[in-house]
Amino acid sequence: MADIGIIGGSGLTDLKNLEITRREVIRTPYGEPSAPIVFGKLGGREILFLPRHGPGHTIPPHQINYRANIWALKDAGVKKVIAVAAVGAITNLEPKLILIPDQIIDYTYGRAHTYFDGDSRQVKHVDFTNPYCEELREELISSIKSAKINAVFSGTYGATQGPRFETTAEINRLENDGADIVGMTGMPEAGLARELGLCYATIAVSANPAAGKSKEIIDIKQVEKTLEQGMEQVRKILEHAIPSIN
Ligand code: HPA
Repeated sequence: MADIGIIGGSGLTDLKNLEITRREVIRTPYGEPSAPIVFGKLGGREILFLPRHGPGHTIPPHQINYRANIWALKDAGVKKVIAVAAVGAITNLEPKLILIPDQIIDYTYGRAHTYFDGDSRQVKHVDFTNPYCEELREELISSIKSAKINAVFSGTYGATQGPRFETTAEINRLENDGADIVGMTGMPEAGLARELGLCYATIAVSANPAAGKSKEIIDIKQVEKTLEQGMEQVRKILEHAIPSIN
């Protein structure tokens, strides 16, 4: 059974080298996920793929049904989730840089962010000291090293609400808080994966210097172009990593 799920973000609505075997609409107690789950083979191994923003990239970050997405992956048998995410760089400003974060700060609001909504009578808490699964992080890091791809292997992801980009003052605040990268989808996704006991790690691709980190304002067309190139590296990492993941 396929036990690895990949959640594709902006710039990665499909995996070119995925030999698709079938698509399945999975219903959950929380509604429908962003898209039918794609079942296929990558690097000779069965995996599941889910485009976070929908097949045509139509669902904005604050309207993604994160609970349905994570639930559906678990329901389909997934144990490890590789989340791909486009981010802005606050530190390490080189474009197209891959970063495997090890910490996260949640600045989002108004999103359905937990499965423990008080309807099971008992209040439930989960440990989130290390929000990403260390085993999967290590597996990704060793694949990146063997593929000789330029990357940073730790850093803090600041999750903002979007869909607009941030102001310079907001980015300065995130930097003061210790954030290295900024994106709009890292939470509640990581927290929900932890609540369901899934091993979850993120491959972040820097698409632009965050607001105020370059002389120019953010050029959205350029962001899309940079992302396209960055996602080529992500595809390479996935092809290296998938066969060797435990
Ligand atoms: N901010 C938030 N999310 C992003 C950015 C950014 O600068 N770039 C890509 N996703």
